[in-house]
Amino acid sequence: MPPTILHSPLPLTSDCHHYTDISQVPWDIQKYYHQRHSLFHLYSSSPSSPSIHLTDAAWFGVTPEPVALQIAHDLDPPSSPTSSPTTIIDIFAGAGGNAIAFALSGKWSRVVAIERDAATLACAQNNARVYGVYDEVVWILGDSFEVLALLRAQGRGKGGVELSVLLEDMAAESTVVFASPPWGGVSYADRDVFDLSAMEPYNLAEIHEACRPMRHVLFLPRTSDIRQVAALVPKGKGEKVDVVQYCMHGASKGMVAYIPAAGEQDAEETSGS
Ligand SMILES: C[S@@+](CC[C@H](N)C(=O)[O-])C[C@H]1O[C@@H](n2cnc3c(N)ncnc32)[C@H](O)[C@@H]1O
Repeated sequence: MPPTILHSPLPLTSDCHHYTDISQVPWDIQKYYHQRHSLFHLYSSSPSSPSIHLTDAAWFGVTPEPVALQIAHDLDPPSSPTSSPTTIIDIFAGAGGNAIAFALSGKWSRVVAIERDAATLACAQNNARVYGVYDEVVWILGDSFEVLALLRAQGRGKGGVELSVLLEDMAAESTVVFASPPWGGVSYADRDVFDLSAMEPYNLAEIHEACRPMRHVLFLPRTSDIRQVAALVPKGKGEKVDVVQYCMHGASKGMVAYIPAAGEQDAEETSGS
């Protein structure tokens, strides 16, 4: 199915849970359940509906709220020479940790959240409602690489009229892509230096290539090979890549790389090669 803008919340399914007792929680996510109030401080805020929901898979990947808030604080919209609205696109929205923080920051004209798994996106929409920002986000169900390809083609393609209109309104200079990709399971923690070319299902080069016309911000394993990140600096512009470790209680939760947009010349070189 082509990527679709949603106008109403997807229904929570039997895969979307709000656990209230450890006895309900599968053993492999019990560690994360103990951290539930660090992940979402409103996890148990009130017995009223809605309450925070997660799929079991989402527990492994959700960005803890203090980290998501700090990233949203650190990331400012481009001061673009055009009058286009500033847009942040969270291309791996998951259960909404980062998209909610971007919406709460109030800095962006538009927050777009893309997720290809319907149950996970239903959780993200529900969680955004808990934080009062559901209406601040444009929700897209579908493959983010298809959306990025459509964006590069300025909306021309099989994404539907409404998505085309949205994408045509996004100028590369005023759009930032945030990517918190899957890290290929939890085994990344076993490696001293994480090889980003082996990250699954998408490696660093694939993500960078899809995002590079725009400034992009990548949330990566804390042990990621910094030389592979440094190699992404756009050529010939004297640019640099800022890399920040985001810590909680003295331990890094992930490395974030702030990658400038490719210069026009650089982008042309790639499209011509
Ligand atoms: C690490 S999680 C993101 C967590 C998110 N930052 C949060 O705080 O909840 C990665 C998410 O990307 C989604 N995903 C993977 N490939 C995708 C694709 N091609 N398009 C859209 N979503 C994708 C997965 O379903 C998963 O929910």
